[in-house]
Amino acid sequence: MKVLVFDSEIEASKKAYDILKENITENSTLGLATGSTPLNLYKCMIEDCKNGNISFKNIKTFNLDEYVNLEYTHPQSYHYFMNDNLFDHIDIDKNNTFLPDAIAETDEELNNLCSKYNDMLNNNTIDVQILGIGTNGHIGFNEPGTSFDSTVSVVDLTESTIKDNSRFFENNLDKVPKRAISMGLKNIMAAKTIILLAFGEHKKEAIDHLINGNITEDWPCTILQNHPNVYVVIDKAAEPTK
Ligand code: F6R
Repeated sequence: MKVLVFDSEIEASKKAYDILKENITENSTLGLATGSTPLNLYKCMIEDCKNGNISFKNIKTFNLDEYVNLEYTHPQSYHYFMNDNLFDHIDIDKNNTFLPDAIAETDEELNNLCSKYNDMLNNNTIDVQILGIGTNGHIGFNEPGTSFDSTVSVVDLTESTIKDNSRFFENNLDKVPKRAISMGLKNIMAAKTIILLAFGEHKKEAIDHLINGNITEDWPCTILQNHPNVYVVIDKAAEPTK
């Protein structure tokens, strides 16, 4: 695991973009995340594409997760987020962008959607997976206690994640979806290269576990210690105290 610490989120995101570029070709497959953390990285991708330095025309993407039954026209759905913050601004073919389909009437249907997404992931190799991290150490929406063998599944968000994400839902806990479909830890570990980003003091404890902690399902991020090619790109505020 390579840990890179920067003075600012902007510098860290620029470095993350350099690492991303070094590890892809023009027809690579990317694993993408939502949330606040990757926004500056996505801005780097947009700027570089607009300047004609890179094309995403033949790039394929798979996102980590999507809220259950949040309409894709909802600004906080991850489908909407990805279009708004990345896909609408680069030359990617949207037919090559995939997120878990998470709209269903029954749990049986949801489970079928999980199997479908899992099959798609098994039929593709993610060259570079971008990750954020929850304050409780989740990656994707794999909350504490998730099996290290997990594949795509319907997950219940923990109280702490619902609270953390309420900032996107008018600070109203009732408005935050309580379930999501998420790639499992096994899917994430199958990526060739992983770039995990984290910014801010509130991520420090999770980063400490990620880098220095025992490998345990109580801190899902610690599974990354078993991956041969992980970059942890953080700002000083998120750096564990030595
Ligand atoms: C997002 C995801 C989550 C976030 C994490 C951090 O697709 O899977 O694991 O990366 O919750 O969220 P932010 O970046 O908003 O702090």
